[in-house]
Amino acid sequence: MTDAELIARAAAMRDRAVAPYSRYRVGAALLGTNGKVYGGCNIESAAYPVTLCAERTALACAVADGCTTFTRLAVIAAGAGVCTPCGMCRQMLYEFAPDLTVLCCDADGGSTALSLRELLPYGFGGDRLPD
Ligand code: THU
Repeated sequence: MTDAELIARAAAMRDRAVAPYSRYRVGAALLGTNGKVYGGCNIESAAYPVTLCAERTALACAVADGCTTFTRLAVIAAGAGVCTPCGMCRQMLYEFAPDLTVLCCDADGGSTALSLRELLPYGFGGDRLPD
């Protein structure tokens, strides 16, 4: 799976976005260590905070399929500049794949590769919790 193929999958997922409130359509494609790609799109709710981001939608699909380890993620939106995962998504992804590479894409598919550790320095993990 090349970066270009992963970005194309994310762009296809963007077409499935349900974003009537923000009109900011986002697609994500998450590559599992099993070789499968899990797609996600943002799904907005009239009760705004209930909204799901594309990245967490993809993660939920993967976990439901039995895949919990990942190597690369592509995320693409339709606005200006590159799309980077929000803080909640960074946290959730970190707990599954702290060494993830994130391809942050502009609307045309141009990408900047960033590590999740760059995006979430000093990330909090479950290993800090008491036994
Ligand atoms: N959103 C994502 O799906 N992923 C991101 O990386 C940034 C934000 C969504 C949430 C909401 O539906 C819309 O974009 C505007 O915040």
